[in-house]
Amino acid sequence: MTRHFLNLVDAGGDGLAAMLNDALDRKTARASWPKGRVDADAPLAGHVLAMVFEKNSTRTRVSFDMAMRQLGGSAITLEAGTSQLGRGETIADTARVLSRMVDAIMLRTDDHAKIEELAHYATVPVINGLTDESHPCQIMADLLTLLERGKALPGLEVAWLGDGNNVLNSILEAAGLLHFNVRVGTPQGYEPDPRYVEQARARGATITLTGDAAAAARGADVVVTDTWVSMGQEHAHNKLAAMAPFQVDERLMGLAGPQATFLHCLPAHRGEEVTDAVIDGPHSAVWDEAENRIHAQKSVLRWVFGQL
Ligand code: CP
Ligand code: NVA
Repeated sequence: MTRHFLNLVDAGGDGLAAMLNDALDRKTARASWPKGRVDADAPLAGHVLAMVFEKNSTRTRVSFDMAMRQLGGSAITLEAGTSQLGRGETIADTARVLSRMVDAIMLRTDDHAKIEELAHYATVPVINGLTDESHPCQIMADLLTLLERGKALPGLEVAWLGDGNNVLNSILEAAGLLHFNVRVGTPQGYEPDPRYVEQARARGATITLTGDAAAAARGADVVVTDTWVSMGQEHAHNKLAAMAPFQVDERLMGLAGPQATFLHCLPAHRGEEVTDAVIDGPHSAVWDEAENRIHAQKSVLRWVFGQL
């Protein structure tokens, strides 16, 4: 069976835990090495990942490329605008061709149905590098960052403030699989996908939906936010006024308490969803979080190739 990583549930709670442990170990083993040096065991030597982008990216592109280099393999980047995919070659045919040429495919796309179709026709592993619905690789990096800070996941209280988007959907999925709780503070009409809320609750997580930012933040162990306007929603600037009370500022971080960690997948819109004082302040873990995209994704790559 080809292993795909379209959503966190594909690996299950045990798979996610195995990946996170592997990421912690491998990161420690190469601490202070030059970033492009290959890990001692080069577990993906000879393997090539195709990265297909239908949307912009900085972190996902660089971190997957660096992950493949550190694992002993390499990566090729395709942009929708300069490949035949952008001229109408079907997802199915793209899947068939890339499966003959490379060992795995990562896709960033505007439509989750496209990644499901790609995985259906591909005979090599497919990895979700962000869709309109979810961003599982980001959440692996977020969880790694929390573990590094000594935060045990079971029972953790995570507060999400702002737009109920793709990143939040994956946090909700992780909550169900790894047994932590999420207080979701969004304006009315911007709640997360109810399927992700219900699935997390069905797995035992406590998911609270509130329109009160202070109630969501109060006493939280982790405060997370993201852009108010995701890629593909550029027309939705009328959202900004509704989102304003959910800006993560020092007052909201103060409500969370002195031990709280601030996370943001980046890119940040400073002065919108987060203030400079918070993202550059003592609670912020955003640069570790960004670096951890590399370490977390190395373990995702090892998992899809059956090494974990
Ligand atoms: N967080 C994240 O996915 O960043 P990029 O859009 O830069 O890849
Ligand atoms: N929610 C954002 C995440 C960017 C990494 C988006 O989809 O644009």
